Amino acid sequence: MSETSMPKEEGLDHSLAFLREGYEFILHRRKSFQSNIFETTLLGKKAICIGGRKGAELFYDPDKFIRAGAAPNRLVKTLFGEGAVQTLDGERHRNRKGMFMSIMTRTQLQKLDQLIQREWEKASKQWEQADQINLYEESQYILMRAACAWAGVPLDDEQKRTEQMRHLFESPAALGPDYWQGRTSRSGADQWIADLVQQVRNGELHPVREGALYVFSWHRDSDGELLPEKVAAVEVLNIIRPIVAISIFIAFSALALHQFPQEKGRLQKGDGSIHRFVQEVRRFYPFFPAAIAKVKEDFHWEGYRFQEGMLTLLDIYGNNHDPHLWEQPDLFQPDRFLDWDESPFDFIPQGGGDFHMGHRCAGEWVTIQVMEVSVDFLVNRLQYKVPNQDLSYSHTSMPTMPKSQMILTDIQKVIS
Ligand code: HEM
Repeated sequence: MSETSMPKEEGLDHSLAFLREGYEFILHRRKSFQSNIFETTLLGKKAICIGGRKGAELFYDPDKFIRAGAAPNRLVKTLFGEGAVQTLDGERHRNRKGMFMSIMTRTQLQKLDQLIQREWEKASKQWEQADQINLYEESQYILMRAACAWAGVPLDDEQKRTEQMRHLFESPAALGPDYWQGRTSRSGADQWIADLVQQVRNGELHPVREGALYVFSWHRDSDGELLPEKVAAVEVLNIIRPIVAISIFIAFSALALHQFPQEKGRLQKGDGSIHRFVQEVRRFYPFFPAAIAKVKEDFHWEGYRFQEGMLTLLDIYGNNHDPHLWEQPDLFQPDRFLDWDESPFDFIPQGGGDFHMGHRCAGEWVTIQVMEVSVDFLVNRLQYKVPNQDLSYSHTSMPTMPKSQMILTDIQKVIS
């Protein structure tokens, strides 16, 4: 087989450039190399960056890539937690992923829908008395209360636990004290849930049987054993933490409603317009820059050689903004989803491929649903003003969000 040499970025290490260019690091180079694949060096290691529809399809082939040992330690120690599904491969991954997908039933999603609506109702009553609210922060409390009720987790100290969840997803790329805050919150939150798992197993706590706390406490791994308490805790947090992180998408949704008022005027319940709006928010605004894996064993693809153990990054942000996949990708146009072909490899804000066999986000349906309920509430149930504030968002801080976190004033509930 003839081998083609992969476009390669010269220089010793490009980690600083990654921090400087953030979400656009891979896309910039895909454009300048005129190639959906290139080699670079990150954190002192050779790494392949890959994008495009075919690139994503390759990345999600479980025979070609593995996750064990791929993610940087700081991600595992804050965002994921030790022993999480994100770091598993093969049969162990399939078994654990099955555990997650088993709670994503239609009935369970409807239950979450109701919990989220109830929390929006309760919170917004209080906002009417306030001079202003910070939507990013407030929505975290809404999401935390709903997520814990859905998972069957008794919420002991609402403020402390909600802040812990925020630290877990804000800290992975942070420096100094903010990063260490994430590490402290990870140990505190793991211990909190591990104690609850123990109580469930001892028969001292009886959470709802369909919720994550009960299901994960009694789940048996591929070797037939119950999960270690700490691992079950990490996985329950793999439900609660990302639900709270939807606050970033809620802040971006409010930003989009403000910046594109013509789109806001078109949103109606029941005609699919809110769904398309939510899809476009997930495509347009940055969240995760890339997914990361390692080459399982040597192979060739399109003439390029992939060497066992090489780190490989899939360009999540770049595929959502790839001009070969989207017409005018830098315009906010929800109607582009009217004739989208539903390829699992071009629109990948939460990863691509198959939910069960691969590492695609287990909570994508949850995310879409929670966003739809929230956008409907913002558009049809609330009136508010968006005062002058810094609505810009960085393309380099990860995760990013509107700098002012969306301050709203003059809030009134619409009587239906
Ligand atoms: C807030 C918006 C969310 C974003 C942007 C997001 C994004 C992602 C991404 C990029 C991945 C990795 C895909 C890969 O490695 O190939 C992922 C995995 C995962 N997500 Fe999400 N996610 C979100 C919400 C959620 C929610 C609400 C849940 C749970 C209710 C969830 C649970 C998970 C789990 C368990 C995994 C690991 C799946 C596996 O490794 O097989 N996520 N998510």
